[in-house]
Amino acid sequence: MFGAGYVGLVTGACFADLGHEVVIRDIVPERIERLVAGEVPIYEPGLDEVIERNRDRLRFTLDVHEAVDGAEFLYVAVGTPPTESGDADLAAVWAVVDELPEDVPGRPIVVMKSTVPVGTGAHVRARLDARGLSHVGYVSNPEFLAEGSAVADFTRPDRIVVGAFDQEDAERVVGLHHGIEGEVVHTDVPSAELVKLAANAFLSTRISFINEIANVCELVGADVVDVARGVGLDHRLGPHFLRAGIGFGGSCFPKDVSALKQLAGNEGYPFMLLHAVWEVNELQKRRVVQKLQKHLGPLRGKKIALLGLAFKPNTDDMREAPSRVIAYRLLSEGAEVRAWDPVAHPSDLVGIDLCETVLEAVRDADAAVIVTEWPELASLASADVREAMANPLIVDGRNLLDPEAAQAAGFTYEGIGRPRHASPVVAV
Ligand SMILES: NC(=O)c1ccc[n+]([C@@H]2O[C@H](COP(=O)([O-])OP(=O)(O)OC[C@H]3O[C@@H](n4cnc5c(N)ncnc54)[C@H](O)[C@@H]3O)[C@@H](O)[C@H]2O)c1
Repeated sequence: MFGAGYVGLVTGACFADLGHEVVIRDIVPERIERLVAGEVPIYEPGLDEVIERNRDRLRFTLDVHEAVDGAEFLYVAVGTPPTESGDADLAAVWAVVDELPEDVPGRPIVVMKSTVPVGTGAHVRARLDARGLSHVGYVSNPEFLAEGSAVADFTRPDRIVVGAFDQEDAERVVGLHHGIEGEVVHTDVPSAELVKLAANAFLSTRISFINEIANVCELVGADVVDVARGVGLDHRLGPHFLRAGIGFGGSCFPKDVSALKQLAGNEGYPFMLLHAVWEVNELQKRRVVQKLQKHLGPLRGKKIALLGLAFKPNTDDMREAPSRVIAYRLLSEGAEVRAWDPVAHPSDLVGIDLCETVLEAVRDADAAVIVTEWPELASLASADVREAMANPLIVDGRNLLDPEAAQAAGFTYEGIGRPRHASPVVAV
């Protein structure tokens, strides 16, 4: 397994749990040292236990030869972040392909778990052939796990997508999943690559769609929570990803929307829908600032508490988290920003005061913003918080709280797309 990140660690550990011998290789010494020492360098519920009970089947190394030696499958789970142009940066993927020793014996299969643009498999195949590695197979097997529920997603996947140049290679990869129930989608390599990008783009589209409905709700006096429920009960639509909020983030949705938009554009096709999905998401993060201004006027000198920093609950992942944009927008408006998160403690949020507790973050604050719907925040509208704040305004960016209960507890409440429940604006 190349890559000891969210995907590599979870997939490697879960394959070990199925009884396979797994060597996980990374290039960051500190990461491997911590794993060897028994620590888990990321926060992912349940992962510690899986790693712990499979220590005898799991090895961690920096050495490419130790990883490749005797391996039947060479999983690639390295990062593919966006470049400035919006294309995926495949440098880490190419590094893995170029590092494979030419004398690798047998017929190992390179299995691509990393999310890559359509066409990557064909390029990797050509590069392997050019390097004299025609005997090495190639299979695209995109990953659909969600951070926060990654272990369960591995054990009970909605589907296992396998795109191969060679049917036997596909069967071998499917066989590796013996013991897991999940529908297998057999296809060619480009289609497998596109399934991943299309799935994330579609989920992102649903989020931007319901966020736009929320914004319309605010203009026409409807409640997006009820609207989403009424829409989602239609069996043709389903209830998932219809929760209005302050926009999507994380290491996958923004990157994959951008990669698909870019991929289509590179082929001469302007993917208009994804342009809109992207723009709506950018604006949605910034609407929080307008909501604060509506209640507080100019934000210069105002103390704002951001509650939750990770891009979603149950992860410490801060990549593309909406909290980043909100924090810097607030700073540029002259606000004083404090933040609290139970697991994400980013050192790169310059100018933001990180607090140990919610109470510390909200003390003397002019407003508290729920940025991530951590379960701990469900009880935010308490007497302690009310007393600690200078002005009891809650902007609920995830519609986590019961608006009536929050108002009954003495808070001014402002959610997303819930005008019926919003407290009237009072001058402070
Ligand atoms: N995180 C998710 O929820 C998720 C879900 C599905 C798919 N994916 C995709 O999976 C891929 C990995 O994502 P991630 O979140 O695990 O990334 P990550 O950044 O957490 O981990 C990638 C790891 O690869 C390591 N690495 C880089 N070059 C290497 C090399 N030559 N050999 C070995 N290791 C190397 C890095 O040091 C890092 O530890 C990405 O393409 C991502 O889009 C991620």
